[in-house]
Amino acid sequence: MIYIHSAAQIATLRGASAKPKAGKEMEELGLIEDGGIVIEDGIFTFVGSSEEARRYVAEHSGNQEVTVLSAEGRTVTPGLIDPHTHIVFSGSREFELNLRLQGAKYMDILNAGGGILYTTERTREAAEEQLMAETVKRLDRFLEYGVTTVEAKSGYGLRLEDELKQLRVVRRLNASHPVDLVPTFMGAHAVPVEYKGNADAFVRTVIEDMIPAVAREELAEFCDVFCEEGAFTVNQSRDILAAGQKWGLKPKIHADELVSYGGAELAAELGAVSADHLLHVSEAGIQRMAEAGVIAVLLPGTAFFLMAQPANARAMIAAGVPVALSTDRNPGSSPTESLPFIMNLACLTMRMTPAEVLAACTINAAHAIGRAATIGSIEVGKQADLVLFDAPNYLYLQYHYAVNLVDTVFKKGEVVIQ
Ligand code: NIG
Ligand code: FE
Repeated sequence: MIYIHSAAQIATLRGASAKPKAGKEMEELGLIEDGGIVIEDGIFTFVGSSEEARRYVAEHSGNQEVTVLSAEGRTVTPGLIDPHTHIVFSGSREFELNLRLQGAKYMDILNAGGGILYTTERTREAAEEQLMAETVKRLDRFLEYGVTTVEAKSGYGLRLEDELKQLRVVRRLNASHPVDLVPTFMGAHAVPVEYKGNADAFVRTVIEDMIPAVAREELAEFCDVFCEEGAFTVNQSRDILAAGQKWGLKPKIHADELVSYGGAELAAELGAVSADHLLHVSEAGIQRMAEAGVIAVLLPGTAFFLMAQPANARAMIAAGVPVALSTDRNPGSSPTESLPFIMNLACLTMRMTPAEVLAACTINAAHAIGRAATIGSIEVGKQADLVLFDAPNYLYLQYHYAVNLVDTVFKKGEVVIQ
């Protein structure tokens, strides 16, 4: 039994496991001052005031050993959740930065064979063990920043054996690393060189060869597509996501990132779990997402790193679209594992309030990866993933910005960062 007491503040995020928080609900964090938490067998068994928790321990500990931890001066939140990453890849692309500073556009670099295609070359060459080693470093960093669960996409193989290789790495790391991984198949991330000028044929192999193989090996829960001018059209994206649905893969979509393109509308039409990016989403797209209950996964770090205007989070929240946040960790448009810095950017560049930001990285992020029944809030019965921040209250997390305030991280009731 673990007894944590005297937390300056606990943001429990309770009461939203059935449905993501939308509108004003995103402001409600279920705060407890001078809070106490009890963990048994990796699960929260009591959450309340320090005094109530002390009584619970006295009544229930029996002969058990009790580990006591003071969280004085610390703010406690659920383990942070990143619902959108591309972490399994080989190499890096720091040389693109100078090109972009000189005015090259993200899509120009891709069309010239760089960008995603460069990383695909490196990832195809890399053995599975090499990919494992590179990805572990990224997961270790996520954990240092308080992130205890990440979604992880394929999409740097762009042919069957290498897409499977990436997803097998996700599966192996999920079993061996403290961070939990939720796998997404994203074979339609770019048209590979061998299909240049023949995107429809590539879409066919994604649908006919890759999706069935991924589903048969049970290597993914979600299917994602880069629906964008220069990547995959709305019709191609619909065909791919619908095929995924037939094989039990739930749809997600990279939508309206670089131009307004109808990705959000498609997400609503298909009942996608989330539509991600949305820098150029139309007003109609926002409305349709709200009606269909599609979660907006916003990636302000990508806008920052591509020197673009971030998404209009305020319009989406006002329309009742549930918002989640993510790093988009990838080698080209957002090479960072610092979800807390992304939270700072969400606050300071998209004007999300500190409360909305926290809801977006915990319970709403859990919904965006289908895990809200087990993680995303500090509630009795949920998996004991939590972060103690060196902060007197949750507001402070967006105030003392761009530094790592993580003090202690618990994963399934075990201390993994101290
Ligand atoms: O979410 N937009 C497409 N995919 C990634 C970037 C991948 C890359 O540049 O390697 C994104 O921004
Ligand atoms: Fe992405």
